[in-house]
Amino acid sequence: MGTLEIERAQALLSWYRIQRRQLPWRDTGERYDVLVSEFMLQQTQVERVIAYFEAWMNRFPTVEDLAKASLADALSVWSGLGYNNRCKRLHDTAKIIASDGWPTSVEGLEELPGVGAYTARAIAAFALGKHVAATDTNLRRVLSRWYGEPLKGRALDVAANQSLADPARDWNQAMMDLGAVICRNHDPICNQCPVGAWCAGPGLILDVPRQTKFEGSARQVRGAVVRALVRRAPQSIVELVAATQFPTSHVLEATSSLATDGLVETEDGVVRLCE
Ligand code: ADE
Repeated sequence: MGTLEIERAQALLSWYRIQRRQLPWRDTGERYDVLVSEFMLQQTQVERVIAYFEAWMNRFPTVEDLAKASLADALSVWSGLGYNNRCKRLHDTAKIIASDGWPTSVEGLEELPGVGAYTARAIAAFALGKHVAATDTNLRRVLSRWYGEPLKGRALDVAANQSLADPARDWNQAMMDLGAVICRNHDPICNQCPVGAWCAGPGLILDVPRQTKFEGSARQVRGAVVRALVRRAPQSIVELVAATQFPTSHVLEATSSLATDGLVETEDGVVRLCE
């Protein structure tokens, strides 16, 4: 780390100590809180996650509580947040942790269902105190602007490792907050930026892959089928068609893809959520 990086990190961390967002999964440093929040945050905005996170923690306060619960129960709390496969993977991960214990390394975390390179590093930095950067889209954008070019792959890792400061937990959250609140993609508020003095490319806009449209998508039908089954199960396809108001062909397709993913099962012509 050179002088520039040290001064910039100090300015960032000072700003974070005053401006940081109060989020219910922060500050406890509990592994399980971090695990649940990171699964929920994978494809969903912070503002939408908060209420689901709180409901989840009330219902499944520990990893053992989640491991003991049925998938159907977990889905009843998750449903509405979207991408229900995440719930199945989180439930599978909880069962593994309850039986084998918590991994203690990034590599060990990466072996858990639903835990990719980013999520493993986020858990390692936030909950295990590891000196690692959790490079999500916010960090990628902030680092790209600091370096004045769109970064990816190895160059992104190098920039992240060069810039990472201790405590890594605060540094990563500070970067996420800076990216969310100040260093926004289309309308950055550079005149309020605590690290503007050390930024090479404030005007840089990154292309971000947009989430596919929800309205009219297969994802929408899958979500509606799960929601209907949370309300009442089992149901026949005819009942699911009535409950969801989607055409029979769409409901059949959604049911079959949910069965392939292990979220529902069909027996004797009726569909239910998996245990
Ligand atoms: N996005 C993913 N993890 C986050 C966190 N811990 N805080 C804010 N945004 C996040």
